[in-house]
Amino acid sequence: NWTMEEFIGKEITRIREICGPKGRVIGAVSGGVDSTVAAKLMHEAIGDRKVVFETKCRVLLMPIFQTAQQVFDMLNKDLGVNLTVVDASDLFLSRLDGVEDPEKKRKIIGNTFINVFEEEAAKIEAEAEEEEKKGAEAKGRVEWLLQGTLYPDVIESISFKGPSATIKTHHNVGGLLKDMKLKLIEPLRELFKDEVRALGRLLSIPAPLVQRHPFPGPGLAIRILGPVTRDQVKILQQADSIYIEEIRKAGLYDQISQAFAVLLPVKAVGVMGDARTYEQVIALRAVQSEDFMTADWYAFPPAVLKRISSRITNEVSGINRVTYDISSKPPATVEWL
Ligand code: XMP
Repeated sequence: NWTMEEFIGKEITRIREICGPKGRVIGAVSGGVDSTVAAKLMHEAIGDRKVVFETKCRVLLMPIFQTAQQVFDMLNKDLGVNLTVVDASDLFLSRLDGVEDPEKKRKIIGNTFINVFEEEAAKIEAEAEEEEKKGAEAKGRVEWLLQGTLYPDVIESISFKGPSATIKTHHNVGGLLKDMKLKLIEPLRELFKDEVRALGRLLSIPAPLVQRHPFPGPGLAIRILGPVTRDQVKILQQADSIYIEEIRKAGLYDQISQAFAVLLPVKAVGVMGDARTYEQVIALRAVQSEDFMTADWYAFPPAVLKRISSRITNEVSGINRVTYDISSKPPATVEWL
């Protein structure tokens, strides 16, 4: 039995012990709850007190996956977390060029994340060395990689890695970290989602962010079923933002555990004015779930679906058809890839 206040105190002490007086941590934020809470906790532990600990909490952002500016403003301005925006979108997109296989996408993204982390860590160290040459006191090495792994992520990845089959490589755990020089620090790995939310509230993370639906580590790449291009990312982002906006307007956001749009690699015939169109299809997903191990599809009021569909087909160029996913987990999974 423990309280969340005790957890914060204990975890901050643990982080400081693990990192030592000078150890520095690198990490990334997606704009989701877990990575934000992890970054804020790290900031409380070693970010603020860099005078005492001479540590620095550096958080990276991969802008292809979410609206980078919003995430930056929130973390940097509202939460005071030191954030450097690294636009690695060209690198991610070039490595994903032509790749459709879900596991390949996950592996490429995971490996690219690590390459970017290691490259950034090297840059931070080179900067520190320059400063030291000019007489600044020596800084610690960037040895640690911050991950917002939760308890269910740990469990799922263990149970998924049965002898015969891996269902999905959850990219923030396990396999991909084999060759990494950075060591993992996972302050949330004993917590469930609702506990992370409670922790976020205690750390003064704004309510809309704390309540945000989960967002997967591999980002929109696993919601684009065909090849990932800048164009496809843009179409999906537009559709997704209309979808979420309408869910919020209808007052349903907090009743749904996770909702997102998926871009299908198929084209369908439609009509606009008196012209024939031949464009892509958006699938909408919304589920209710306790722990995401199982999930039920969410029964929207038809009027809400109607509004969402009409806005997406009218406003998103390249989409002429919207479909609603009525599959539960199992046998489907929450994400399509
Ligand atoms: P699935 O699709 O496995 O999703 O039913 C269950 C929950 O996990 C999220 N998800 C991921 N999260 N890295 C993550 O951090 C991943 O690779 C990943 N794959 C799925 C998914 O969004 C859902 O909340």
